[in-house]
Amino acid sequence: MNLKEEFIKYFVSLGHVQIPSAPLIPENDPSVLFNTAGMQPLIPYLMGKEHPEGKRLCDYQKCVRLTDLDSIGDKTHHTFFEMLGNWSLGDYFKKESITYSFNFLTKVLNIPINRLAVTVFAGNESIPRDDVSASIWQSLGISPKRIAYLPEEDNFWIAGETGPCGGDTEIFYFRSDEPIPETFNPKDERWVEIWNNVFMEYNKAPDGQITELPQKNVDTGMGLERIVAVLEGTDDNYKTSIWQEIIAKIEEVSHKSYAGNEQSMRIIADHIRTAVFISADYAGIKPSNTDQGYILRRLIRRAIRHGKKLEIPLNSDWLLEIAKVVIQKYEDYYPEIKENQAIVLDVLKNEAIKFNRTLEKGLKEFSKLVKSLDNKIITKEEAFKLYDTYGFPIELTVEMAEEQGFKVDTEGFKLKFKEHQELSRTASAGKFKGGLGSQGVMETKYHTATHLLNAALKVVIGPDVHQKGSNITAERMRFDFSCDHKLSEEEKRQTQELVNKWIMDDLPVNMTTMPKEDAVKSGAEAMFIEKYADLVNVYTIGDVSKEICGGPHVKHTGELGKFKIIKEEASSAGVRRIKAILE
Ligand code: SER
Repeated sequence: MNLKEEFIKYFVSLGHVQIPSAPLIPENDPSVLFNTAGMQPLIPYLMGKEHPEGKRLCDYQKCVRLTDLDSIGDKTHHTFFEMLGNWSLGDYFKKESITYSFNFLTKVLNIPINRLAVTVFAGNESIPRDDVSASIWQSLGISPKRIAYLPEEDNFWIAGETGPCGGDTEIFYFRSDEPIPETFNPKDERWVEIWNNVFMEYNKAPDGQITELPQKNVDTGMGLERIVAVLEGTDDNYKTSIWQEIIAKIEEVSHKSYAGNEQSMRIIADHIRTAVFISADYAGIKPSNTDQGYILRRLIRRAIRHGKKLEIPLNSDWLLEIAKVVIQKYEDYYPEIKENQAIVLDVLKNEAIKFNRTLEKGLKEFSKLVKSLDNKIITKEEAFKLYDTYGFPIELTVEMAEEQGFKVDTEGFKLKFKEHQELSRTASAGKFKGGLGSQGVMETKYHTATHLLNAALKVVIGPDVHQKGSNITAERMRFDFSCDHKLSEEEKRQTQELVNKWIMDDLPVNMTTMPKEDAVKSGAEAMFIEKYADLVNVYTIGDVSKEICGGPHVKHTGELGKFKIIKEEASSAGVRRIKAILE
């Protein structure tokens, strides 16, 4: 049985519309690196905005949770996972939601009722105990002894600090061959949580205040990897059909078996799968030393190091071979995996080439180090050398050190890292200043024109237009932006006119430097926020545009001359491209 497809079929039969998985890298939310739950992209609709597909939705959603990164290697954790979810946006509430879940588990998946138990919200000072859910569960045949009331820490769900939230009811499955206890004890680890139904009826404001949402919603989430393990009767997720081919490939390239090498094989399997999904995302993330790019680098390098532990010949194409198995497994479900497979393989290949160059020497340096130290602490200088000279992410050094019973001065490392960053930032700022002279007058004008065009498109097409890229020469500018349709002649004309109006208004261009977070809070646009250092330059143009940007820019828009759109065409899926000149 294909669980993903069964799940969707079931909820579609109950009037839900299947929506596509949102991108792994959130498009308009710089506060998180990755989508961590199926509900994340739906927040505006849970808050009351009308969803174009209606009030009943379902999907399978790509998620990455980094909180578990260090636990990868055990039986149950993953960085990337898929979450099955169904939603009611102000439509049905507790009764239907619980009944739908119950019927899916007991009638579609044929799980015996006796293996199920549930938790419900015990309430707090402002929200009453959820007796409603408890009695619905009882009416379906769940014994009161199998219903546990748990407090806020367990049964109240919110993504992060603020936003839509509510009490939840969680469904547990008894995963053991031992006799099933009559009374459910949520602390007994033989009971595993398989599904979470959140009744989102509140909103939490930044000041902590809880108010009722205009509508009562349901948000459910079921981790695919876990439910498949349950159904296939194993407590090791990596032994399920989801991982079978991937683990088999790792066994093949390492000439070793999974038994006895579980930890390294799980890490390789998990990290390569996640790296494939991150690099396939349309955001175009590449390995780097910040944000998503750094996570990608860490995952690939850690996988390589475990490949080395398994004695896989590192100069072979082993990483790509495993990635290809991942691609094959997911390409029918996620279009970006299919479209961007060449990019994914390139990313892995290049990062492997880079790391392989220094890995051997770094490992030698490391073993020399641990032999020479008697206090079992790797100093910040040594950790920084491993990072800077040999490309070892600090987390990798920590992991290797721990295996030998050593500790790393990570706090000291962080300070050293910061010093180093500031030094190189000053250096590049210096370079930039030097470069400015040679940065031509025309290029500078085109820079400012892209900001005006970006702002004009938001007025003419809509606020959801976002810059996806740009390219400037002394002769012309090219500007890519998210938009689902070819621009009409009228839209092009209005956009061009608006830019020219702002040029005629001779608006002042001002720059202020501020922390990245403040810039984002102040509403400044940024194409890929992760590209920027902690301190950013924010350029405002009159009151029509505010963007994070490295510059350079003109002082007044009047300097630009006449703006003319030469061409408008498709760039990639959902992205349009405008070519324009200044006359
Ligand atoms: N948002 C809830 C969760 O992530 C249910 O989808 O568990």
